[in-house]
Amino acid sequence: MKGSVFRKKSIQDLLAATSGEKSLKRELGAFDLTLLGIGAIIGTGIFVLTGTGAVTAGPGLTVSFVVAALACLFAALSYAEFASSVPVSGSVYTFTYATLGELLAFIIGWDLILEYMLAVSAVSVGCSGYFQSFLAGFGIHLPAALTAAPGSIKGTVTFFNLPAFVIVLAITFLLYLGIKESKRVNNIMVVLKILVVLLFIAVAAVYVKPHNWQPFMPMGFGGVFSAAALVFFSFIGFDAVSSAAEETKNPAKDLPKGIIFSLLVCTVLYVTVSAIMTGVVPFARFEGVDHPVSLVLQMAGQNWVAGIIDIGAVLGMTTVMLVMLYGHTRVMFAMSRDGLVPGALSKVHPKHKTPHVVTWVFGILSALLGSLVPLDELAKLVNIGTLAAFVLISVGVIVLRKKQPDLPRAFKCPGVPFIPALAILFCLFLILNLGWTTIFRFFIWLIIGLLIYFLYSRKHSKLNEKL
Ligand code: ALA
Repeated sequence: MKGSVFRKKSIQDLLAATSGEKSLKRELGAFDLTLLGIGAIIGTGIFVLTGTGAVTAGPGLTVSFVVAALACLFAALSYAEFASSVPVSGSVYTFTYATLGELLAFIIGWDLILEYMLAVSAVSVGCSGYFQSFLAGFGIHLPAALTAAPGSIKGTVTFFNLPAFVIVLAITFLLYLGIKESKRVNNIMVVLKILVVLLFIAVAAVYVKPHNWQPFMPMGFGGVFSAAALVFFSFIGFDAVSSAAEETKNPAKDLPKGIIFSLLVCTVLYVTVSAIMTGVVPFARFEGVDHPVSLVLQMAGQNWVAGIIDIGAVLGMTTVMLVMLYGHTRVMFAMSRDGLVPGALSKVHPKHKTPHVVTWVFGILSALLGSLVPLDELAKLVNIGTLAAFVLISVGVIVLRKKQPDLPRAFKCPGVPFIPALAILFCLFLILNLGWTTIFRFFIWLIIGLLIYFLYSRKHSKLNEKL
């Protein structure tokens, strides 16, 4: 295996390392996991991308959400087997390193970096839209040039999304100080988010005019599937549930329940919200709108409810950004500790005990991308990075069940190889529906990654020291 791209970390070393660590208390049940999942899931997808989704699919957006949810369900079950096998920092990446080798681990880590980094940027754009809608309620308007990334709004010259930039810097500062979201804050946020969505449903439902649902699929199945590939973004974050495996009372039972319940709750909310949105406002009206949910209420004359939704959405999206940026630093930290990316990135701040270099470097990068790139482009790149990682992981589950049947697995994906195979099919299908431009950009990202791997990581990998 010397110098091979398939060289692996020893799984015994990993297990020894984790058993040596102070093990975490097992106190989470299926209910806690469901809340954890919903906390990480509901954000820009439902509050903003539903607008673009409606323009792409028409009222058939409801079907798009169901297709995306199925892809997530199958992928999530495979992901959970991977993530729960070796509960250490950067779990999926680390587990791949121990089982499928260095190159695949690097690629999965590289995909996850794309996912987390750009997800922070994408969510910041959503947050900015609702923040501006809230200010507008008080008659406060920012100069148009500073409200959005170049090319985001047809007919308006925009240069920079200032609120998005400031929001990400603020989140980065919190993470630098070591502020992690606690279980209590998460639970409050989840309840708040669900209440905001339910408030929307309750108030807006009475304004639905069923004739707006005709025709149901004005752009045919093509539109519905393109929208599904985009709104897949709304479900990202459920992977957070698997990373809590080590703290779960009974991972074999509670993990799948937590994953399935949180996906189910979100799917029901998303389908209902998109049905109401397209029922109240003709779908074409959402073109270029960055706060579609509150727009629906504004158009129905319910301005005060729209204001409440604006605040709830901003707070809810803030927590999604915290989770994503935190996840990002964890993967980077693990890769840096293994020598695959420069060691400076895993430096820990002497006082705050946080990986401050990686936090600032990527916080600033996410802030810049969020303020300069339109939301849809960001979301599609996040999706392709995530979908590609899910495909690799699902292949990994099938391969490892054959090659290493006796590996310890806290949770086993049911129905192997059918469920992982369905995950692969659905994820590849959604990737193809993202369009060639996104696929091309993703290949460039992969090529940059491979260059880094072959020019830097192989030489600096900590595995070299063991040879
Ligand atoms: N699912 C998360 C959101 O929609 C990323 O904001």
